Amino acid sequence: MRSLLQQASPVLPVVVIEDSAHAVPLASALCEGGLTVIEITLRTDAALEAIRQIRQALPQLQVGVGTLTHARQLPAILDAGACFAVSPGFSSELAAATRAAGLPWLPGVQTPSEVMQALNAGFDCLKLFPASLTQLDTLAGPFPTVGFCPTGGINDSNLQQYLQRPTVLCCGGSWLVPPALQAAQDWNAICILASRAVELARGEHRC
Ligand code: 3PG
Repeated sequence: MRSLLQQASPVLPVVVIEDSAHAVPLASALCEGGLTVIEITLRTDAALEAIRQIRQALPQLQVGVGTLTHARQLPAILDAGACFAVSPGFSSELAAATRAAGLPWLPGVQTPSEVMQALNAGFDCLKLFPASLTQLDTLAGPFPTVGFCPTGGINDSNLQQYLQRPTVLCCGGSWLVPPALQAAQDWNAICILASRAVELARGEHRC
């Protein structure tokens, strides 16, 4: 998971997609804006079909699944072709199941105990959810080698502050793919949001 995020542009769009027909134009806009990794959350019925279509149309993109909360979701995720999975929290069940499936997994954490659980299970690349600069700095003390992907509450105005932190691998967020722009099929506006994020990230990212 670490190498996947290190190779990526340091911004991970968290997509909630309502219509799978929007998947390819949306992903193309993000790609044109300079992003290389996309997370499609399992919060809508369109998610798996969206992943399938993006994988077929844009094989250069790394497309993963988000909001993975239970191992029973894995067969359908693998069948759709997801390259990685992201969860809002950590569970031993998902640690074992994603490892058995060979699917790179980014589990969510918030507290030192959760970081320790994840490390003990062999995961050192973690989503800090919800994101907080204070929590990130606090966790960097005892866990300086953990790579974090803060997500939740990140946008253009605080992205650079997060990316300046040495333990941050990348930042995730939905601000790049607002539901209103998706509904309006304003792919150009989404491309501009992605380009702006890439521009902000340039020069600020050290991992
Ligand atoms: C997530 O699932 O990662 C978060 O809901 C994204 O948070 P954001 O909408 O504040 O970016």
